[in-house]
Amino acid sequence: MSEQVKVPQVGGQRVRVGAEAELPEGSQTEVTVDGVSVVVVRYEGQFYALRNNCTHKDYPLLGGEVSLGRITCQKHGAKFELATGKAKTLPAVKPVRIYRTLVEDGVVSVTPL
Ligand code: FES
Repeated sequence: MSEQVKVPQVGGQRVRVGAEAELPEGSQTEVTVDGVSVVVVRYEGQFYALRNNCTHKDYPLLGGEVSLGRITCQKHGAKFELATGKAKTLPAVKPVRIYRTLVEDGVVSVTPL
């Protein structure tokens, strides 16, 4: 079960992703935060949010395979760490931007870090 923590918003748009109960393990949900596409992944019960844009050739990360805490770009196979956004395998070398995920009263939302 995810921890429910109240974290003050520090700036930028806060976007509702959905009810926690409706976002099953392995789900990927696309939301728009401050005009930017973000993919929200539920992995091992936790929620992670990354910019939906591979840093290699601007390909969407949404729908990429998730395993070992990483999401794989479907274009050329680069892997990004969900928790940090770091590029873990070539051909990507730059990190992808990550966002803060919040679960409050059973509702998942995303804000910029
Ligand atoms: S576009 Fe993602 S690895 Fe090339």
